[in-house]
Amino acid sequence: MDAQYRTGIDEIDAQHLEIEQVAKAVLDAVSAKDTWHSVHYLVVRLYELLRFHFAVEESLMRIISFPMSAEHKRVHDEILQTIEHMKVATLDPKGEAVGGRLAQEFSFLPHIVDHDRKLADFVVAFGGLTR
Ligand SMILES: [Fe+2]
Ligand SMILES: [Fe+2]
Repeated sequence: MDAQYRTGIDEIDAQHLEIEQVAKAVLDAVSAKDTWHSVHYLVVRLYELLRFHFAVEESLMRIISFPMSAEHKRVHDEILQTIEHMKVATLDPKGEAVGGRLAQEFSFLPHIVDHDRKLADFVVAFGGLTR
C-alpha cells in the first residue's frame, strides 16, 4: 500500500492492506477471465472483509464520540451497497458486462482510505492510541 494511504494506526492499516489485496485479486481474476465462480468467491471475500472493517471503525467512532461519524458511516454504506451489487452481478456466468463495470466501480478504493484520515487524526488527538 502506498505510504500516502497509511493512516498511521497499525490495525486499520493492516485491514486496509488486506482489503486492497483482495480487491486487486478481484480485478486480476476478471482480467485473466477466470471462471465466474472464482470472481464471485473473491467479491464475497471482499464484502466480508469490508463489513468487518467498517464495523470496527464504526465501533471505534462510537467509543471516541467522533463528530463526523454519520457522514463517515454513509460512505461505508454506499461502498457496501456497491459490493453487494457486484456480488449479485458476478453470479451471472455470462456476465460479460461485469468485467467492464468492475474496474469502474473499483474507483471507490482510494476513498476507503481517504475518508479515514479525519478519523485517524481524531483518534490520535483523542490520545487513546499511538501512531
Ligand atoms: Fe477504513
Ligand atoms: Fe472508514
